[in-house]
Amino acid sequence: MVKDFTDTYLLNDGYRIPCIGYGTYLTSDEDVCRAVMEALKQGYRLIDTASMYKNEAGVGRAVRESGIPREEIFVTSKCWNTDRGYEQARKAFEQTMENMRLDYLDLYLIHWPANRKQFGEQAASINAETWRAFEDLKKEGRVRSIGLSNFLPHHIDELMQTASIPPAVIQLEFHPGGYRKEELEYNNAHGYVTQAWAPLGRAAALQGSIICEIAEKYGKTPAQVCLRWEIQHGVLPIPKSVHPGRIAENRDVFGFELTDEEMRRIDGMEEVVFGSGRKHPDEVDF
Ligand SMILES: NC(=O)c1ccc[n+]([C@@H]2O[C@H](COP(=O)([O-])OP(=O)(O)OC[C@H]3O[C@@H](n4cnc5c(N)ncnc54)[C@H](OP(=O)(O)O)[C@@H]3O)[C@@H](O)[C@H]2O)c1
Repeated sequence: MVKDFTDTYLLNDGYRIPCIGYGTYLTSDEDVCRAVMEALKQGYRLIDTASMYKNEAGVGRAVRESGIPREEIFVTSKCWNTDRGYEQARKAFEQTMENMRLDYLDLYLIHWPANRKQFGEQAASINAETWRAFEDLKKEGRVRSIGLSNFLPHHIDELMQTASIPPAVIQLEFHPGGYRKEELEYNNAHGYVTQAWAPLGRAAALQGSIICEIAEKYGKTPAQVCLRWEIQHGVLPIPKSVHPGRIAENRDVFGFELTDEEMRRIDGMEEVVFGSGRKHPDEVDF
């Protein structure tokens, strides 16, 4: 298990990834530069964005203007659903690089799999073609690592039938009240690092009585208990906050350890739902 905020995981392609990241979903391009600068100042070295967040320009600016050497910051972006397929994914990548004004990305993710509900029998070949573009970008040195977001084991199995490079990272919705045991076991068995999106259940997990009770026992906050649970599962959380105090709180999760019993209690929490409800990758139509 990682022991310190500055620890990293070794990816299956030889690169290293920080054990906690910083999320930027729903932070406007106007605000994101200041927020990412703050996170970098506080020691975060993994920044997660996506073309869909419409804030890549501000994230790129923060990375460039931080004064921190580029190779010390791990930058992730994602290819959106309207950019699937070989040519379109390559074009989307070029747009991302133009937005960010960076020379390379550390990690590029397919944001959501094309699913059968929307694409029928075409879904597998669409995903295969998008991934072929990702493989070429990696071979060309434009991205260091490539991975998948919201891909479940059956999507990954299907993709691996034609892939020549396995994903390094799988990013999933994962939080107390959203424990994805099977997916995590599958990812671990295949050597893929699991990243938790919405690691706080977009703040909805912070109200749970089990989380609050455990937080009180350790003199920690509910957010710290959520993030600690993910870390003890070997999962890499990417919490988002625009508030300096919370950005600090979310990195301070190494001074205590949940017991096996506490881990099991959190594992078993009932589903925490936020926004318009869980977005199952096989059911979404965007
Ligand atoms: N791959 C995907 O499909 C996908 C989907 C969603 C998200 N993501 C990525 O994952 C990142 C994290 O997920 P998320 O932003 O959806 O949700 P999250 O990190 O679970 O929760 C963010 C919410 O929690 C609040 N918060 C943060 N720290 C807190 C603390 N210590 N105490 C109390 N409240 C706190 C934030 O408010 P304030 O900002 O006001 O503090 C915000 O409302 C995103 O930002 C994005 O980079 C990926």
